[in-house]
Amino acid sequence: MNTGTALIRRLIAELGEDAVLTAASDVGGFTEDFRGRYKADALCVAQPATTEQVSFVVRACAESGTPVLPQGGNTSLCGGSIPSTEGARPVIVSLARMRRVRHIDAANGSMEVEAGCVLKAVQDAAAEVGRLYPVSLGAEGSCQIGGTLSTNAGGTSVLRYGNTRENVLGLEVVLADGSVWNGLRGLRKDNTGIDLKQLFIGAEGTLGIITAATLKLHPLPTHQSLAWFAPVDPEAALRILGMFQERCGSSLSAYELMNARQLELVIGHVQNRRNPLDGKHAWHVLVELSNSRGADAMDELLVQTLELAAEAGLIEDAIVASSDTQRASLWEIRHSVTEANKKAGVGLTTDCAVPVSAVPRFIASASEAVRDIVPNIDLVIVGHMGDGNVHFIPMFSFDEWRAMPDAAATGATLRRRVNDVAHQLGGTFSAEHGVGQTGLQEMAHYKSDIELTLMRAVKQALDPKNLMNPGRLVP
Ligand code: LAC
Ligand code: ZN
Repeated sequence: MNTGTALIRRLIAELGEDAVLTAASDVGGFTEDFRGRYKADALCVAQPATTEQVSFVVRACAESGTPVLPQGGNTSLCGGSIPSTEGARPVIVSLARMRRVRHIDAANGSMEVEAGCVLKAVQDAAAEVGRLYPVSLGAEGSCQIGGTLSTNAGGTSVLRYGNTRENVLGLEVVLADGSVWNGLRGLRKDNTGIDLKQLFIGAEGTLGIITAATLKLHPLPTHQSLAWFAPVDPEAALRILGMFQERCGSSLSAYELMNARQLELVIGHVQNRRNPLDGKHAWHVLVELSNSRGADAMDELLVQTLELAAEAGLIEDAIVASSDTQRASLWEIRHSVTEANKKAGVGLTTDCAVPVSAVPRFIASASEAVRDIVPNIDLVIVGHMGDGNVHFIPMFSFDEWRAMPDAAATGATLRRRVNDVAHQLGGTFSAEHGVGQTGLQEMAHYKSDIELTLMRAVKQALDPKNLMNPGRLVP
């Protein structure tokens, strides 16, 4: 019996037959990403239901020298949840069965959840006790907490609440040898040495498997005021952002930008999505204020700020949502971009962040840089302007992409051009999606020798056999 077969038998004996998938038809949904960009074999998919079972799987893999790839909701936009085509086939450890909300402490503003909890379920459970788990993103109906932690996911509320990293108080992690670190503390202050949990957040499963987390909760805002407006250009959008920050302070909870092409793709490819404004405008912003006091006062503040911006000649048109239904439908437009872009063609999704003040320059220079290579390129732009993270997406139709003799190489060159522009502006190529497979070359290219050496030292210390998602993150 070869090692792979022996390992599979061992896993079945411990987890049960239905928790270890080997048939191609069962494994397919775990070995390819939802956009069909990445695909590679796995030895099997293990679906442990408890931390002890995860520990068993990792120990068994360590003993047989088999790589381990943890997987959440498989919503990665950069191939992070899919095996590589190179190297030994890994055991994919799906955390989907670990979806218990273990404990909520409303008074402490914390909740302990298992890694397989879907983000939306976590938000809902917090809201039931009058608290907010603020991380929110398009894939929230299917992505899992473990994946959001392992990639330090961002989303639309980062300008007010920070990214995932800033909303975690404690972790439980199965380490590379199968031992379990219980760091599930619900403390907002704890200066007892190196903050170990931060090592595992954003490590994409290369240092261990996050099995549970104590998340930080916030007061639940009871009212949202929401507007959709067309700024004259990104420079105007930046100035209006400043006006909102000055006038609304911490009530400003979202400030999202998209170009006309992005809106057009959402309307064209996703059912029941309509242009919120009359006529065509080059740029669009969705702005949200939220707090727990005075709905009318907040609506008024929103309108006044927009009026000021209009008087300054910064806005072409605007609407303020007047009902929950209208608010929901405006957010649906924003959260539909990935679905729309997937249907529209092959979008080279990039994930740069630059200083917020440099967003207009980033958009202008990146547009120039890619048009240098493909003059009439279709440019889809959508981003979290409030935190400086812009998805600048050169888009090809499926036919164009198929007809290009060197599509993969052209794609890599275009991405590199965009990432170079961000780098020159003091930015990063990976803001919130993680590094995955798309960003691996970029890590080698942009990170300094000292940074890579430090990361390799951490990896060597925590995973000396190099079995936890090997080959990822640190090239
Ligand atoms: C978004 C994804 C692409 O911002 O991150 O919708
Ligand atoms: Zn995003």
